[in-house]
Amino acid sequence: MGRGAMAIDLTELPGLDDLHSPRGPILEAERLASELNGADTTFFLVNGSTVGIHAMVMASCAPGDEIILARDVHRAFVGAVVLSGALPVFISPEIHPRFSLSMGVTIGAVSRALSQYPRARAVGIVSPNYYGICAPVDGIVREVKRYGKIMLVDQAHGSHLRFMRGGPSTALLEGADAVVESTHKTMGSLTGTAMLHLKGDFVDRARVKRALRILQTSSPSYILLASLDAARRRASVSGYEDVSRACRLASRAREAINALPGLHCLTEDDLEEPAAGAGFRLDPTRLVVSVSGLGLNGWQAEEILRKHHGIQVEFADEEHVILVITLADEGSDIDALISAMEDLGRARAVRGPGSCHRLRRLLEQAMVPPPLRVPPREAFFAPSRPVEVSRSAGMISAEEVAIYPPGIVIIWPGEEIVEPAIEYLLRACERGARLQGLDDPTGRHIRVVAGPSRG
Ligand SMILES: Cc1ncc(COP(=O)(O)O)c(C=O)c1O
Repeated sequence: MGRGAMAIDLTELPGLDDLHSPRGPILEAERLASELNGADTTFFLVNGSTVGIHAMVMASCAPGDEIILARDVHRAFVGAVVLSGALPVFISPEIHPRFSLSMGVTIGAVSRALSQYPRARAVGIVSPNYYGICAPVDGIVREVKRYGKIMLVDQAHGSHLRFMRGGPSTALLEGADAVVESTHKTMGSLTGTAMLHLKGDFVDRARVKRALRILQTSSPSYILLASLDAARRRASVSGYEDVSRACRLASRAREAINALPGLHCLTEDDLEEPAAGAGFRLDPTRLVVSVSGLGLNGWQAEEILRKHHGIQVEFADEEHVILVITLADEGSDIDALISAMEDLGRARAVRGPGSCHRLRRLLEQAMVPPPLRVPPREAFFAPSRPVEVSRSAGMISAEEVAIYPPGIVIIWPGEEIVEPAIEYLLRACERGARLQGLDDPTGRHIRVVAGPSRG
């Protein structure tokens, strides 16, 4: 790690402040970050957006409160619901009709959910999602505010959007009450660091603080905290310039990839096609490349790129590889990427546009919420036993099952396990997807609620 890292691996010494009760340099650093991002209050996090999601839900919902969630939210929301005791009700996201990926929720779908669940306390969505697709946050926030509810946005992948001229809007600027950002994902702070921003007083600030005191370590790393302040400083000095460069590089890569037979890199125009006027936007720094036209699945393409070209993609799914052009990338990195993509095509027989109808249908079905039989918190604490996934239909899941990345939850604890979810999971495992949430790392068994719950 080097002497430099050790030299600043300090703790709450005099003059170094205290993350859980900041009055000095940490408070000042958080204040500068809130100013830069257009928030009223910012909390530095050393356990990722995950802990920010837990805290913002715990501060918004008490046990038994309903929370409306987009079905494609990250699995961190499962933890949030288990910790808070909130009851999730879901909105299905739009699935792209040509590419098998979730786009996010529409304004209309949020509006319908608000009138269907008038007692809900809060609405939680993800934007941008792992594919860089940004929901129409302006219209969604407007609807949520019209109903007087709390708007929570997981903007884990969007801490750079604030510095993108002409790019998708950010949730905070559109009036969301709480927004979490993984600064470590796109703005260069160290892994595990993030920020939680609050605006207005819809979310109880004191309760957020209390939740963070419970959830975060009492020995936060000063190396991590300093990296957040350093990322904030760099963003305030050269954020616009850095992000513009990344956008230009990504745009060159996108054009070159789209000129290659058998490959397609998602464009903003592709989002207009299924949901014209719905207002979805694309983060231009994310390259979502469909490889199915080469007769490959995303995991196979990922392996070829890593083994033969030294390129590690952000993640792969059945149809795509997803790459992120970062603030640190240079022209030579883009040249290497384009030449790797050319090679990928050269080695394969091009089969014309890929067809993933069955996969899309499975994804669509998997995003339809099954009946919630037991509150997730109760399912978490209930006695449970493992059963084979293929024989689990009709039982109540005690654990969450997410395909990781992107971390979208296919089965929530407390839900009835239904055939489409089983089919989707078995197929994903067979093709090489990684699962998270299951006790059994092979993904063959799932724990189901075994008997009366202990609450
Ligand atoms: C959409 C989304 N939200 C939240 C998280 C959690 O973020 P973190 O890893 O910073 O805890 C992730 C992580 O990948 C994510 O993809």
